Amino acid sequence: MSTTSTITLEQIAKQPIEVPPHPTWPSLSAEQRDALREHIKRMLVQQNAVLVAHYYTDGELQALAEETGGCVADSLEMARFGSESSASTLVVAGVRFMGETAKILNPEKRVLMPDLAATCSLDEGCPAELFAAFCDQHPERTVVVYANTSAAVKARSDWVVTSSIALPIVRHLAARGETILWAPDKHLGHYVERMTGADLLLWPGACVVHEEFKGFALERLRRLHPEAAVLVHPESPDEVVDQADVVGSTTQLIRAVVDMPNREFIVATDEGIFWKMHQMAPDKKLIEAPTAGEGATCESCAHCPWMAMNSLQNLAAVLESGNNEVQIEASIGERAVLPIQRMLKFAQEHGIGGKQTPAGA
Ligand code: 13P
Ligand code: SF4
Repeated sequence: MSTTSTITLEQIAKQPIEVPPHPTWPSLSAEQRDALREHIKRMLVQQNAVLVAHYYTDGELQALAEETGGCVADSLEMARFGSESSASTLVVAGVRFMGETAKILNPEKRVLMPDLAATCSLDEGCPAELFAAFCDQHPERTVVVYANTSAAVKARSDWVVTSSIALPIVRHLAARGETILWAPDKHLGHYVERMTGADLLLWPGACVVHEEFKGFALERLRRLHPEAAVLVHPESPDEVVDQADVVGSTTQLIRAVVDMPNREFIVATDEGIFWKMHQMAPDKKLIEAPTAGEGATCESCAHCPWMAMNSLQNLAAVLESGNNEVQIEASIGERAVLPIQRMLKFAQEHGIGGKQTPAGA
């Protein structure tokens, strides 16, 4: 990419993104499954390793992370947990940017992932070279990137944010009179822009999972469940966000199910979150928000194909082989750590986040 030619938002929006089919795993009997879980537990202890899992991964992985002293959390908390843990190996069950963030913050630790091909459409739609050239075109703007980006994109940024901290950080920057170049999620960016009134230049990326939620179908579903509260992750389009009772990160949505008096909830985010919501509020009824497919194709189901690349089987394989170690070039890591640490410091100073949602909390 020549840095002398002007890059337009139309050009950026044309980035091809290859969405893989959902993987299928060989089925295991209950005995095989138990044996595999015990084998993983032993390997975690032997290797002084902890499992750090996102809420969108398979419930079995989330349960295992909790049982073994690891963590199940949103992306902000996953980043923080890795640094606070005394384990020498972090096994990150999630998508690549989560493993990369863990490695950037803990270069001395071994960071493994069940599948290094588990990426994210936001990360894929924001190639580092194109991004750097776009930033060069707007030197007057503070560069704020969502955590769902590569290490090289983070290295070019001033601030990294996750969905649980984007609003206060952007408010803070706007209060200082800064204008912002925001990447890569245009829906989250637009939500932040509307909530803060800040001046954001939006990179036109999107999450292929949340973009499938449809406003019209949600309106119909709400009519069928008038008592239900609507919970929406801000990577969703405006037409869905506008119908929400609560808009927030995965942890904030889980908290809403626990704290709100409603008995029913319509949930517009990846269905993996239902495991934790059921665990935390077993008596509440959870309803999936409608996607374009409404039960038709896998492409339009509300489950991230990259998060689905994590399983008991490849978790065991990676602990056995030591393969799939996350590597970050030192010169990139040294720069990428600064905006991530800036975010973590801001979170600490403003009391944002905290522990991952523990069972029964
Ligand atoms: P959270 O930080 O809210 O967990 O979101 C991560 C993500 O990838 C949502 O799609
Ligand atoms: Fe990326 Fe969307 Fe998957 Fe989250 S759900 S990891 S934003 S593709």
